[in-house]
Amino acid sequence: MSVVYLNGEFLPKEDACVSVLDRGFIFGDGVYEVIPCYGGHLFRLEQHLQRLHDSLTNIRLDNPFRNSQWQAILEDVVNKNNNNNADQSLYLQVTRGVAKRDHVFPDKVSQTIFIMSNPMLPVSDEKLTKGVAAITHEDIRWRYCHIKSIALLPNTLMRQIAREAGADEAILDRDGKITEGAASNIFIVKNDTIITPPKSDCLLPGITRDLIIEIAYEAGLNFREDDITREQLKDADEIWLTSSTKEILPVTQLDDKPVATGKPGRHWRDMLDRYQNYKQRLRSGDAH
Ligand code: PDD
Repeated sequence: MSVVYLNGEFLPKEDACVSVLDRGFIFGDGVYEVIPCYGGHLFRLEQHLQRLHDSLTNIRLDNPFRNSQWQAILEDVVNKNNNNNADQSLYLQVTRGVAKRDHVFPDKVSQTIFIMSNPMLPVSDEKLTKGVAAITHEDIRWRYCHIKSIALLPNTLMRQIAREAGADEAILDRDGKITEGAASNIFIVKNDTIITPPKSDCLLPGITRDLIIEIAYEAGLNFREDDITREQLKDADEIWLTSSTKEILPVTQLDDKPVATGKPGRHWRDMLDRYQNYKQRLRSGDAH
């Protein structure tokens, strides 16, 4: 039985209810985080809580808890959903709360705070051996993409378009520059250099992205943050998608054409090994 946290209470998922007037339901007025938990250890908690704080500040909501309070609640959710120490993916959402429908913010309402745990399923062997397909799509989102907003209609629409084209992800292009995937960040490799677009209000500052950059620096790999044009994407030796749930996925087909050889590249393999090594250290308590 899955136990969730809702506004100060732990209860079975089936019993957790939110009002139809919740501004998350009515306006998509809220923010969220997805935090992996490996063998009982929360992945990059400090970074996730910092991004949550930034998202809340950007939508003018007070952070309801200090980091130590968030940590205690999240760890409670992890422990209540412990299934032989299996990996979990925590979903945390804060909305502006329940109020009469009005675009203007209500004066005094309490936020709705919700956390659930889902099993963190490993990426399939097929995806790791063959890679995945992606399409390119115009980035149809707003200009505050650095906020992890729950209003994800453009993202879901573009993921659905990708799915209907037989692909796993839509890679987004704003005015000729690649921003990110509909639910992932993007890296390319060209001439043995790893490249990812710099942070801006056009993309989400991914926690997985930052870890990959950290790993690349520590290992002395060739890496730079730089704009990626649509042409550079098409001409890349490797393309990777990164996110908390996808980890690092190689894109081997782009708009129905093979990416370079059409097989996962060696730089991806090397980075994935380093990433798995980090996860192993996290599991044994040697990393955070
Ligand atoms: N999404 N960009 C977008 C638009 C995303 O939705 C995500 C993750 C990322 C990667 O961020 P991170 O490495 O911190 O997971 C980038 C999550 C997993 C989701 O919506 O389910």
